[in-house]
Amino acid sequence: MPLPDTLGRPIRDLRISVTDRCNFRCTYCMPFDEYTWIDRHEVLTFEELERLARLFLDLGTQKIRLTGGEPLVRSNLDELIGRLSRLDSNLDLSLTTNGALLAAQAGALYAAGLRRINVSIDTLKPDRFKEMTKRGNLDEVLAGLFQAKKIGLSPVKINAVIIRGVNDDEILDLVDFARTNGFEMRFIEYMDVGNANAWSLDKTVTKKEILEIVHARFPVREIGRAHGSAPAVDYEFLDGAGEIGIIGSVTEPFCASCTRVRLTADGKLVTCLFAESGFDLKAVLRGGAGDQEIQEKIAAIWTGRADRYSDLRWERLSSGAGYRPRDHKKIEMITLGG
Ligand code: GTP
Ligand code: 5AD
Ligand code: SF4
Ligand code: SF4
Repeated sequence: MPLPDTLGRPIRDLRISVTDRCNFRCTYCMPFDEYTWIDRHEVLTFEELERLARLFLDLGTQKIRLTGGEPLVRSNLDELIGRLSRLDSNLDLSLTTNGALLAAQAGALYAAGLRRINVSIDTLKPDRFKEMTKRGNLDEVLAGLFQAKKIGLSPVKINAVIIRGVNDDEILDLVDFARTNGFEMRFIEYMDVGNANAWSLDKTVTKKEILEIVHARFPVREIGRAHGSAPAVDYEFLDGAGEIGIIGSVTEPFCASCTRVRLTADGKLVTCLFAESGFDLKAVLRGGAGDQEIQEKIAAIWTGRADRYSDLRWERLSSGAGYRPRDHKKIEMITLGG
C-alpha cells in the first residue's frame, strides 16, 4: 500500500485551497472571532502548486480537488487546471465552488482540462439564499450551474448543507430540482468546522433523517462510497433518474477510510479538517529544498498521522460524554476549504 498512516490509510486525495478569499459570507462559515487574511506574498504560486502536486502524485495521490475560500476568485485558475491536468491523464481533478463566477469561467475551466465540478447550493429560495450567503445571488449561481452542465462538465454535483430550522424544509425540492435537471444532489450534515458557526448537534439533520425523507418520496437503493473512501454514501433512484449522495460527517463519521490531505493557500500541510494547525511546507519549498527532501517531509508527516476527529466526536456525542466544539481551536473553513 502506498504510504500508510498509523491507521493504515494511504495518501490518496489532495485538497488544495488556492485562496482564502471569498465573494460570499455564509453564516455558517463567517464571521470569525479573529482572522488574519493570508498575505498575497504567502500564497503559493501556480509553479509551486504544480511542483507539489507532482510530488504528491509520486507518493500515490490519485485525486486533487481545488477549494478556497472560493477557488474561482483566484485569477487565471484555468491556468492551474491546465498545469495539473497535464501532470497525469488519469488524475481525478475537480473543484468545489460557490458557483457565483462559474457562468463566466466554466468554458475556460473545461478547455483547460476540468471534467467535473461540485457546486454549493443550500437553498433554492432567492431570499433565503441571500440570507444564508449574505452576498450571494441565487440566479447567478444557477446560471453557473447550468453553464457547467452545458459546457460538458459531468457530473455536476450540488452540495447542500442541511441545517435544522434553516433549510431542512427544502430537502425534497432540492432532490426534485437535481433529478429534473440532471445534477447529482448531495446532502451534507451540518458540522462544527472552523470556529465561526454556532453549531450544536440539534441543528444537524442526520444522514438517517435525510435518507428517510428522500426515500419516502423518491425510493433509492444504496450503492456505497466511491473508492470505498469518499465522504458521501451514494444512492441510486429506483426509477433510474440518477444518484444522490449523503455525507454523514457527524453521525456516521468516515475517519477509518480517510485518505485526504489538505494544503492551505499559504502552503500549510494539514492532515485533518478539524486540525488546529498544519506543517509549513512552503518554508521547506521556499527554503530551496530538493524534490526528495520535500517528499520525505510529506511522507514523515503522513506516516505519523493518527487523526480521527469525527470518530472521537461521535463517540463523545453518542455516549453522552459531552462535546463542546469551542474547547478545541480549529483552522477556519475558509482557510481549509472543507
Ligand atoms: P467528491 O470527490 O465529488 O466525492 O467530493 P467530496 O465530497 O470529497 O468533496 P466536497 O468538497 O464536495 O465536500 C463535500 C463535503 O464533505 C464538505 O462539507 C466537506 O467539508 C466534507 N468533507 C470532505 N472531506 C472530508 C473529510 O475528510 N472529513 C470530513 N469530516 N468532512 C469532509
Ligand atoms: N458543515 C458542513 N459542510 C460545510 N460546508 C461549509 N461549512 C460547512 C459546515 N459547517 C461545505 C460547503 C461546501 C463544502 C466545501 O463544505 O457548503 O459545499
Ligand atoms: Fe460560503 Fe464557502 Fe465562502 Fe465559506 S468559503 S463563505 S462556505 S462560499
Ligand atoms: Fe479525515 Fe479528519 Fe474528516 Fe476524520 S475528521 S474523515 S480524519 S479529515
